[in-house]
Amino acid sequence: MSEIAKVVVVGAGTMGHGIAQVCAQSGLRVTLTDVSEGAVAKGVSAIDKSLERMVQKGKLAAEARERARAAIATSTDPAGASADADLVIEAVPENMALKLDLFRAISARAPSHTIFGTNTSSLSVTEIAGATNDAARVIGLHFFNPVPVMELLEIVRGLGTSDATTDAARAFASRIGKRPIVVKDSPGFATSRLGVILGCEAIRMLETGVASAEDIDAAMELGYRHPMGPLRLTDLVGLDVRLAILEHLHRELGEQFRPPALLRQMVRAGRLGKKVGRGFYEYPADEKK
Ligand code: 3HC
Repeated sequence: MSEIAKVVVVGAGTMGHGIAQVCAQSGLRVTLTDVSEGAVAKGVSAIDKSLERMVQKGKLAAEARERARAAIATSTDPAGASADADLVIEAVPENMALKLDLFRAISARAPSHTIFGTNTSSLSVTEIAGATNDAARVIGLHFFNPVPVMELLEIVRGLGTSDATTDAARAFASRIGKRPIVVKDSPGFATSRLGVILGCEAIRMLETGVASAEDIDAAMELGYRHPMGPLRLTDLVGLDVRLAILEHLHRELGEQFRPPALLRQMVRAGRLGKKVGRGFYEYPADEKK
């Protein structure tokens, strides 16, 4: 296929707005979409905050920020916006039914060369591909939070993904300054499968009183040089997101992924992590994003 110039990002939440931002900073035209004007506006405001932070730190020129902002259009109609897209990246909640509906609608409108990317953390890319009219053009493009900072792009090949689509995904990774790894479609891929088990065990340790949240995190930060301990990282990712991934991996891979009762309770209590100001830790209002 010809080079990717226009990207549609579906979902303006934690991951979607970050993905739109890095695409725009790399000179791509982007349409950021979500279900409501309010959700889109929230995503755009998070992009503004991140770009401002980069300008303040001297990592981005003011003109580059303006160029990036000018490259971002918004919409509440993902299928309509995809009518001239080279690449669509879905970043909606981890709900298979939602993703299938979305890809069905998008693939009915998108041109025959469009690549369909999904930012799913753990669900089956092969199953998602079944909702489109061409499984060869469907691929996992798994980003990491915070997207402007994290170097990795995990490219996930579904059963029907073509070599041409994989090559285009690799080229896209280079274009946006990410280092790609290519993995086979399997539950949790390479990253979530390993990352989630550490977070899950940390929650079990907290639950059974092995140590405080601060000390469990310090164990990994200071003893293993992780940039962030597993509980603080769960707060960053979102406890609801982690629970959804664990439920899926528990069904697919077995007992070691059974979600801890404490995680379920915290999600029921609305303690979803940094995005709401409260998870394993508390976050002041200005630190939420
Ligand atoms: N936008 C732009 N820049 C940002 C940013 C953002 N949203 N967030 C952080 N930064 C920049 C900061 O400005 C800072 O820049 P500097 O080096 O020039 O000063 C740099 O990143 C480091 O940030 P801080 O100084 O604020 O704080 P830290 O040094 O503690 O780093 C962190 C923060 C980058 C989040 C680091 O703690 C980290 O790497 N944590 C682990 C993150 C991780 O593991 N993410 C993966 C989660 S799993 C996932 O996303 C998968 C999904 O499917 C669930």
